[in-house]
Amino acid sequence: MKKEIIIAIDGHSSTGKSTLAKELAKALNYIYIDTGAMYRAVTYYALQNNLISEKKINKKQLINDLAKIQIDFKYNPDKGFAEVYLNGQNIEKEIRQMYVSNFVSLIATIPEVREKLVAQQRKIGERKGIVMDGRDIGSVVFPDAELKIFMTASPEVRAKRRYLELLEKGENVNFNDVLTNVIIRDKIDSERDTSPLMITPDAIKIDNSHLTRQEQLDLVFNLAKEIIDHK
Ligand code: DC
Repeated sequence: MKKEIIIAIDGHSSTGKSTLAKELAKALNYIYIDTGAMYRAVTYYALQNNLISEKKINKKQLINDLAKIQIDFKYNPDKGFAEVYLNGQNIEKEIRQMYVSNFVSLIATIPEVREKLVAQQRKIGERKGIVMDGRDIGSVVFPDAELKIFMTASPEVRAKRRYLELLEKGENVNFNDVLTNVIIRDKIDSERDTSPLMITPDAIKIDNSHLTRQEQLDLVFNLAKEIIDHK
């Protein structure tokens, strides 16, 4: 029987976690789950339903509405990964825009939102053979994950990557705004009370400021193979 494991990839925003997780899942024939997309989906819902105004979130209404928020992943063979759907609508493109990025960290501080999404993530993980990326996967969602990776890179390197990505998508962005967003999100993600971003003692830290995509993939693929082969 094939031995399958859970691989948790956590780390700072814009460290290329999802790029690595997608490539790793493909190489291992595993399922890739982008948990940031789930927090983005809830943020998108809040924006669409006027639950965010002047940087204030109508938390009470959002918590009330949580039962109405259905998030699904559906595999897109053309893209080679599962895209996120909110109540049946593909919102993969919308959730990557800056207006969603600007509020997602705040939405992710709400304990009731986290509770709902963590429960769904654990359910998905029951089948194993999963690469999941986020901020609390190794610390909260799957503390027993067989392989935990923590990714980081300098804020400038990360902002530059994100900036080029947004330009490529045709968004009209300013580098300093992107850098500010990266720094603010680091702060909110690391200092929140519920499940803050942290490196667990058993995680392997990778600073990819000076690694190519291939070098990084080879490194993590070999770590995963080592565990799978000796399971
Ligand atoms: O990975 P991302 O940039 O798409 O994540 C968006 C936000 O969601 C990020 O600012 C922190 C939050 N997040 C979280 O709190 N826990 C997760 N498991 C994933 C994301």
